[in-house]
Amino acid sequence: LAQALSGGPLQGVHAVVTAGPTHEAVDPVRVLTNRSSGKMGFAVAEALARLGAQLSLIAGPVSLSTPPGVKRIDVQSADDMLQASLAAAAQAQIFVGTAAVADYRPAQTAPGKIKKSSDTLSLALSRTADILSTVRDRHPALFMVGFAAETESLVDYARDKLRRKQLQMVAANEVGGGRAFDVDDNHLIVVEAQQETDLGHAPKTELARALAELIAARYLALNP
Ligand code: CTP
Ligand code: CA
Repeated sequence: LAQALSGGPLQGVHAVVTAGPTHEAVDPVRVLTNRSSGKMGFAVAEALARLGAQLSLIAGPVSLSTPPGVKRIDVQSADDMLQASLAAAAQAQIFVGTAAVADYRPAQTAPGKIKKSSDTLSLALSRTADILSTVRDRHPALFMVGFAAETESLVDYARDKLRRKQLQMVAANEVGGGRAFDVDDNHLIVVEAQQETDLGHAPKTELARALAELIAARYLALNP
């Protein structure tokens, strides 16, 4: 591993990976979150590190151990993840957003535990900032990769995210019906402006290696 870490094609390149879900506090004991184990993101961070990149892994609340040679920054909320991402992106050339970021957070966090009373309870929610779009605005030269988890029209939605967030690549996977969450394998289709690459159905660690190699190839083609 030491050899892989020192001699790879991404030596001298700093990459940032966001991973896992975020927790948006409702009150001191409850959160809103997304289903995400963080496994794919941790595997991507490890695979990029093995190609020689210097890694900052910004992790939401997950129970995974830190891959070797990776600098891990733990965060809770979407806003924490945004701040950590902006700080890390300032030194980076590659940014990969695998995190399942909450799209909404409670408009207010109750200072004390909410006690149950009526039969129904409504929560007012506010939109969170889009991390990839915000990082892109501040750092137009970054090579940026997003993920898209969709239940339908996978490639169309991925292509839409590629354009809207001005990314170089979107790795799309189909979710729902027991696919992708908390399992060790996945199916990824990588969407770029001019092409689509089907990485097939494989263990997340294997897909992460294939994706890291594709990222390295494209990044190095643009930055020889
Ligand atoms: N993402 C982000 N910040 C957010 C929401 C999403 O950076 N607040 C990133 C994710 O990490 C992922 C990509 O955007 O890489 C796509 O996330 P996804 O939830 O599929 O897209 P959204 O733009 O949130 O659209 P929607 O949930 O409505 O499909
Ligand atoms: Ca979303």
